[in-house]
Amino acid sequence: MKIITVIGARPQFIKAAPVSRKIRETVEEKIIHTGQHYDTNMSDIFFEELNIPKPDYRLTVSSPNHGAMTGDMLKEIEQILLDEKPDYVLVYGDTNSTLAGALAASKLHIPLIHIEAGLRSFNKKMPEEINRVLTDHVSELLICPTDTAVNNLEKESVTRNVYNLGDVMYDAVLYNQEIANEKSTILADLQLTKKDYYLITIHRAENTDDLSRMESILEAFKQIEGTKVWPIHPRTKQRLMNYGVDFSSIPGLRVVDPVGYLDMLALETSAKKIITDSGGVQKEAYFAHVPCITVRDETEWVETLVEDANQLTGVDTDKIVAAVKKDVAPSYKPLFGDGDMAGKLKDLIESHSLKN
Ligand code: UD1
Ligand code: UDP
Repeated sequence: MKIITVIGARPQFIKAAPVSRKIRETVEEKIIHTGQHYDTNMSDIFFEELNIPKPDYRLTVSSPNHGAMTGDMLKEIEQILLDEKPDYVLVYGDTNSTLAGALAASKLHIPLIHIEAGLRSFNKKMPEEINRVLTDHVSELLICPTDTAVNNLEKESVTRNVYNLGDVMYDAVLYNQEIANEKSTILADLQLTKKDYYLITIHRAENTDDLSRMESILEAFKQIEGTKVWPIHPRTKQRLMNYGVDFSSIPGLRVVDPVGYLDMLALETSAKKIITDSGGVQKEAYFAHVPCITVRDETEWVETLVEDANQLTGVDTDKIVAAVKKDVAPSYKPLFGDGDMAGKLKDLIESHSLKN
């Protein structure tokens, strides 16, 4: 059996690591890297430290516009699929790379496996929402991380071949946390004291591309006392430079380049609290039992909101500051499966291919 995996953005490399490791026990897998993320610390670093097999195909996307970017990828992926004739195409999440892989596969009638199916923000202004809805509706196997995701699909009458196998990011954390504890020197490098700093990540277009939302978030960072470490996404860095924002006016803020996954796990585990608009980081905060503040108006990961483990504040400065100050004591009940999503996926694909 041959599977072509299409990945292109940072969180997809992290999700692909456990799945590739597992499915390659019995399946021939080839990887297409769409080139959506291309900086070393947004791409190659993950392949190296997570031992992800080198991509068999590496595309380049040049346009920042969604249509052209997706179209460029679609054209090249289609040709590869015509040449390779895989039994399945595998995609992750909700990026433009996901949609390009999904469209290419579905137009050639190659069964599509969508990992992280069924996630919804119900905000169609998000590019990710469009990508995930469309991908789900052309998928053959829909691999959900939670029951909420299964229910979301049911409401859209998508019920065939829908499975909750748990969250692949939990597999990744369980596999890598010990390694991160041993190998990462990021706390010493940045001279950070455990549980004495806040960790920040911001990259959502709805925040970065709206100056007033960014100003409101930055004002909160000003008002939150203490050390704040912010590995800044290239998109955010560019936008803030264009807006002429001067970080040095924010006391205690340490803006650093994006870090590798092992350093990120180390930073997350030792943070006092995490302030983010990332999907993956919300869950990793939950796995690490670190209180999270999500500066978005909605979240796909509604389970994490239980007992204020994750507080959804939007970008209102006062709400962000109040959420950071609030004492919370969540019980962190397991919500995202048992950390063997990849093993279950491998079995599922094998039994599906035998039946079809
Ligand atoms: C993309 C995904 C988003 C995901 C995020 C993960 C879409 C629509 N969005 O957002 O769902 O949460 O990845 O991080 O697919 N850039 C660089 N170097 C890089 C990558 C990006 O400089 O290695 C800059 C470029 O100017 C680029 C901009 O960041 O135009 C945005 O990158 P893009 O991949 O379009 O979207 P993200 O914001 O990264
Ligand atoms: N991440 C990382 N280095 C960073 C920031 C994030 O390795 O500097 C990891 C993080 O631990 C998580 C994933 O990237 O596993 C989340 O990706 P991102 O926030 O870019 O996208 P999203 O999950 O929102 O789609």
